[in-house]
Amino acid sequence: MDFINKVVLITGASSGIGAACAVLFARASAKLAIVGRNIDNLKKVAENCETESGHAPLLISADITIEDDVEKIVKETIDCHGKIDVLVNNVGISIIAGIRDGVQPLDKIMETNIRGAYMLTHRVIPYLEATKGNIVNVSSVLSTKAMSTMTPYCMSKAAMDMFTKCLAMELADKGVRVNSVNPGPVRTNFFTRAGLNSEHNDALMTNFAAMLPLKMVCESEDVAEMIIYLASDKARCVTGSCMLIDCGTKIGKVETII
Ligand SMILES: NC(=O)c1ccc[n+]([C@@H]2O[C@H](COP(=O)([O-])OP(=O)(O)OC[C@H]3O[C@@H](n4cnc5c(N)ncnc54)[C@H](OP(=O)(O)O)[C@@H]3O)[C@@H](O)[C@H]2O)c1
Repeated sequence: MDFINKVVLITGASSGIGAACAVLFARASAKLAIVGRNIDNLKKVAENCETESGHAPLLISADITIEDDVEKIVKETIDCHGKIDVLVNNVGISIIAGIRDGVQPLDKIMETNIRGAYMLTHRVIPYLEATKGNIVNVSSVLSTKAMSTMTPYCMSKAAMDMFTKCLAMELADKGVRVNSVNPGPVRTNFFTRAGLNSEHNDALMTNFAAMLPLKMVCESEDVAEMIIYLASDKARCVTGSCMLIDCGTKIGKVETII
């Protein structure tokens, strides 16, 4: 798979799955625009990309929840690269919370995971129609598997799956494909940002690995490989799909309570 002369815009590229994705796309010769809020982390990812491809990605410091920042993401990408072939909507947060915690966690999560992706996608679509490009959304196995300690997050990922399917229907006649990847537990900073300390996060990953049918958790690179496949011409017949990559989380008996 190569992405020579393809422009790939990745959100949440300063860490975890998004960072791994940036490096893999760089290895496949893509021209990159990578987005995050932490510019130091973005610079580290950019160095890794440059080592792979010899080309420095465009770095965009932006908060996906702020409309002006979203506008900036598209403007800077077009000013630099002239087009967009692939959009990876990867930004996502969680908060360990349920209904008893009130509405704030829901607002924060929906604003970031859904409204942010929606605002950006709205602005990117004309460019994807021009290139007959595609979108890969990063959802979760928790879009269809309930977890009582992450109610707002599960709801946001259920919405992400429906976003994927509706957009795939809306854009099919323009030749634009839309898919999602739905990971199970992945070893990243995700749960520490959600409120766990690093020991708790390590213990959680160990517990998940013991419980999952494949007796391991995903690494960011595993998920990035699936994203690259979906974004490539090899997946030209795939649209509206929500593809699990979960070490068997969905079929297994996984009752970890965080
Ligand atoms: N890790 C898992 O177990 C797991 C499982 C299933 C699905 N996922 C999904 O995978 C995706 C990536 O998560 P990850 O595990 O790689 O987590 P991560 O390491 O915490 O990365 C999250 C990324 O999102 C960015 N981000 C967060 N809020 C943002 C905002 N308001 N504006 C711009 N960027 C923002 C962060 O950038 P800055 O730090 O620069 O702000 C970071 O680059 C998420 O959608 C998550 O829901 C993760």
